[in-house]
Amino acid sequence: MFDIKITGTGSYLPKKVLTNFDLEKMVDTSDEWITTRTGIKERHIASEDEATSDLASKAAEEAFEMAGVSARDIDAVMVATITPDTLFPATACWVQKKLGVKPVVPAFDISAACSGYLYGLILSAGMIKTGVASKILLCASETLSKITNWDDRSTCVLFGDGAGCAVIEKSDCDSGLLSYVWGADGKLGKLLIQEAGGSRMPATKETVDKKLHTVSMQGNEVYKHAVTKMKKAAIESLKKANLTGEDVDVYVPHQANIRIIEATIKRAGIPMDKTVVTIDKTGNMSAATIPVGIDWAVRDGRLNRGDILLSTAFGGGFTWGAAVLRW
Ligand code: UT7
Repeated sequence: MFDIKITGTGSYLPKKVLTNFDLEKMVDTSDEWITTRTGIKERHIASEDEATSDLASKAAEEAFEMAGVSARDIDAVMVATITPDTLFPATACWVQKKLGVKPVVPAFDISAACSGYLYGLILSAGMIKTGVASKILLCASETLSKITNWDDRSTCVLFGDGAGCAVIEKSDCDSGLLSYVWGADGKLGKLLIQEAGGSRMPATKETVDKKLHTVSMQGNEVYKHAVTKMKKAAIESLKKANLTGEDVDVYVPHQANIRIIEATIKRAGIPMDKTVVTIDKTGNMSAATIPVGIDWAVRDGRLNRGDILLSTAFGGGFTWGAAVLRW
């Protein structure tokens, strides 16, 4: 048990909405295919001048307001993202600057793809338990539209942009992180990858012409692993907390595909009416999906103090994770 409390949550989605019908005009696809295969109806797209730190900062301001803290109170900033403003400095440094967080606190990014928020939550719990930090701003923010190949129908219909944040502090009640599971398997990394732009394949005219700086995914292979790992992580984390699916008040899964979510809840024994689904409105926002789902559940009254919250994620790397929290 880690005595932590998420005292504030916030989220932000860019104004522009791209519907499945808009996509029908861009690539050879249909609303029917996208809806039945993924559950997605629409997604939000950042404007040209909006970067990942802009989305994160807007979500963070909401989280500060709910927590009743100001940027000056924060003593560590983390941003989970695979679409950083710049490869370096870290997006967390840009967020720190934008929000006016004190220039003496650590700020760093977490690169764990869709599992980034849960990795950040587990790290935050450890940092608070050991006294390394006492008021952490954890953001998960993505502008996947900027690394999407808009000519590739197998990926461009899937992703969306958005950000979700949390202020995490030491608990003053019985809330806490009851259990967690996290892991990674680099052997399968190539199944979901942005090939170019790093030191393995620096950006050249050729890489840009071939669109190697965009997301490439072997969808059906990734799907099989996602279903297996999400189920396993859900069951293991509940077992570690001496709980079962029936004890879960709210389940916020990573939102990559409604069919992955349905397969996970069936196996873990979690009812659909306790499961937060945002994918129809947001698409897959990688690391941002879970904190956006949590924020929506807090604000619409589904997630309340004392509730058991389960979250699970799976993503590029491969990485995965699960967390059981008493809210
Ligand atoms: O976020 C973390 C990790 N990501 C995931 O967990 C995503 C995991 N993967 C998936 O969710 C699914 O595999 C997808 C939604 C990406 C694809 O669904 P699928 O049922 O696995 O489809 P598929 O890739 O096996 O393709 C089936 C057919 C193919 O046509 P043929 O070869 O059967 O004639 C594709 O060319 O669907 C075709 N297709 C499309 N058709 C219309 C692929 N994309 C589209 C599209 N519109 N957008």
